[in-house]
Amino acid sequence: MKYHKLVENAGRPQGFWGKMMIKAMNKGHSELTDWALAHLEIKRNYNALDIGCGGGKTVSKLCKKIGNGKVFGVDFSELCVEKTKKLNKNNIMCGKASILQASVSSLPFEDNKFDVITAVETFYFWPDKLNDLKEVYRVLKSGGKLLLVFEMVKSEDEPHKWDKVEKSLGIEAVSKDGIVDILLHAGYQNIRTYSKSSTGWLCVTAEKE
Ligand SMILES: C[S@@+](CC[C@H](N)C(=O)[O-])C[C@H]1O[C@@H](n2cnc3c(N)ncnc32)[C@H](O)[C@@H]1O
Repeated sequence: MKYHKLVENAGRPQGFWGKMMIKAMNKGHSELTDWALAHLEIKRNYNALDIGCGGGKTVSKLCKKIGNGKVFGVDFSELCVEKTKKLNKNNIMCGKASILQASVSSLPFEDNKFDVITAVETFYFWPDKLNDLKEVYRVLKSGGKLLLVFEMVKSEDEPHKWDKVEKSLGIEAVSKDGIVDILLHAGYQNIRTYSKSSTGWLCVTAEKE
């Protein structure tokens, strides 16, 4: 019961179980996020965006790396926006962070705004993956990079590893080739994949030329 209530709230956290899920995600995705961020150059003056910011931990990690730049976070869940704002209160007060309620399908930003864009454990939930990736491409600067981060990765060694979660949430684990393919179709270049064999994690960087 508890497991189901928690997992049900991964895609759009709300209410009591949403709050519990946000807490669990901030803790549970922290190591994954640190590992993935190490594959992305983040300069102190960068404009960064975290899509599907959840409880705001990635936004706070980005704020630590960015000096006089700015970090935006978006999530379509009202509760996630509230929690991300709470965790990043000081960053928001000093003008370093700004959090907005928005869907990846229609980002409230002008073209060519961001040097880096991160999306941690959220891609599976995007409603129209190819067009959503194109929308992300629109707001990336030329030379800017997108970092996609995945824990749910299809594995030949453990083909049924994600069956339960996939069934509960109606989403699909990703494959490395599938992600590279869709990024190429969406117009990205210089796509690089990184896997951590001990955990099965995958992160992918992709550039707008
Ligand atoms: C599994 S959580 C991951 C949260 C956070 N990135 C982390 O690593 O802890 C997925 C997040 O993506 C958000 N999300 C799902 N679909 C979205 C969409 N279409 N647009 C914006 N955010 C979305 C959810 O509300 C949720 O906060």
